[in-house]
Amino acid sequence: MQKDFLSILDLTSDELSGCLDLAARLKADRPLRRNAPTANALEGRHVAMLFDKPSLRTMATFEIAVRELGGEIIEPPADSTLGGREALSDVALNLERWVAAAIIRTFAQARLVEFARVTSRLHVVNALSDAEHPCQALADMLTLRERWGALDGRVLTFVGDGNNVATSLAQAGAMLGLRVRVASPDGYQLSNHIVEAATAGGRLGSIERFVDAGEAVAGADAVYTDTWTSMGQEDESAARRRAFQPYQANAALLAKAKPDAVFMHCLPAHRGEEVTDEVIDSTASIVLEQSENRLHTEKALLAMLLAERR
Ligand code: CP
Ligand code: NVA
Repeated sequence: MQKDFLSILDLTSDELSGCLDLAARLKADRPLRRNAPTANALEGRHVAMLFDKPSLRTMATFEIAVRELGGEIIEPPADSTLGGREALSDVALNLERWVAAAIIRTFAQARLVEFARVTSRLHVVNALSDAEHPCQALADMLTLRERWGALDGRVLTFVGDGNNVATSLAQAGAMLGLRVRVASPDGYQLSNHIVEAATAGGRLGSIERFVDAGEAVAGADAVYTDTWTSMGQEDESAARRRAFQPYQANAALLAKAKPDAVFMHCLPAHRGEEVTDEVIDSTASIVLEQSENRLHTEKALLAMLLAERR
């Protein structure tokens, strides 16, 4: 396994499947608490959380994950680490002397790549960048596997912005054999290089882009959406509300999917914008299963990443 987890593409498909297998075992073992086989996996090791943007799920689940694996968390303030007080490379090289891993949420993916590049031992985990949200995709794949068993050939349709969440979802889905469809307005589509890289090398699954949301949802097994205005894009929210209105996950759109289709969202949801109450509160909605599985998949990820090098 590579030193860092900055992208789903940092994993082989076997590593991705292995991470989901381990997450399922850790989920089953959780009631054992301190008697779980992995309760001391990170004993004596520290993990730094560096967050440049708000978070509920990612922050909470990583903190709990580290503690349940027997490790310790430090949370130096973002203005002392990512805010330009000193060079990012100096922050990384200092942290490497104290901690085993840094879990980072920031804007440009390039900042994560730089952090990872200058360190030789520090494991860097992408807790969301403008470009990718790989930890979310791990939880999403576990959630679908729990629901369906094998993923091969299932149709997963994402409606909305082709940015971070859609990118990681499409990468993981293509790796595990899903037929991923992504419907976005012109100007907000997944880019060619993302689709090409995610489907290169004989992937089992596929990625297809659409402009028409109804066409993309027709016959889907799962419908997924995300906010129309991601963190850092608040100045664009009026234009985005107009562009994405036809992509709202409402009852009429969901009616085009298979009758037993599930609804997914990474959260936080903006009820009445990208999703209606009726859909997110329906029995088809598995958003809280996704949220719960953030914990189990992140425990598995940390156990795998930190097990290999000390
Ligand atoms: N889905 C997700 O990453 O949620 P947070 O922004 O609350 O961490
Ligand atoms: N696309 C959203 C995801 C939040 C988890 C954002 O970047 O704000």
